[in-house]
Amino acid sequence: MLPTQNEFPYEFIAKVLIPEEDIKKRVCELGAQITADYKDSENLLLLGLLRGSVMFITDLMRKINRPMTMDFMSVSSYSGSESSGFVRIDSDHKTNIHNWDVILVDDIVDSGLTLYTVRKLLVDRKPKSLKICTMLDKPDRHKVDLPIDYTGFQIPDYFVVGYGLDIDEKGRNLPYIASVDLEKYQAMKKREQGA
Ligand code: IMP
Ligand code: MG
Repeated sequence: MLPTQNEFPYEFIAKVLIPEEDIKKRVCELGAQITADYKDSENLLLLGLLRGSVMFITDLMRKINRPMTMDFMSVSSYSGSESSGFVRIDSDHKTNIHNWDVILVDDIVDSGLTLYTVRKLLVDRKPKSLKICTMLDKPDRHKVDLPIDYTGFQIPDYFVVGYGLDIDEKGRNLPYIASVDLEKYQAMKKREQGA
């Protein structure tokens, strides 16, 4: 059952864009596709970007019926709802990815700058193969040409939270994807700062 409007745990939520059941179904499909695509691989590594990809990657890996492992990197490119276009590596992956079939997993592609930059860095580390998997994609916002191999859902240019995605660290726990009412969010922030 979807929550009714007044049951949302955050007042800045506008509406549910992708319900939990649709996410589950799509994650199953992606898992099946990856299982088939990597049927000959013994060295599959899902490499997630912290923290947005956590919910997605932990669900996705349960649907991949192949030997595999996972690792994480932490990069920052955002503050609030606007991209700074600058990517900083805060914490690197532990696995030596040479000889691994790597799937770089993130929550959302917006400008594409984050994954574009991380991808370039990983290519230099010479993995056996490298693909990109994103839960969400906002095609209207792309600023760079990024090859995306697996996409959960394409969405319009809304700022969204839930299923790992946040606005200033809020909203990650929602089991669905919801759009944010940015005016309400700013008003709430102002109120909190004034308090
Ligand atoms: P990009 O570098 O512009 O593609 O931005 C990618 C990162 O920005 C994602 O990994 C998210 O952390 C963040 N981001 C972009 N759009 C949204 C959104 O709608 N909601 C939450 N985070 C977002
Ligand atoms: Mg992110």
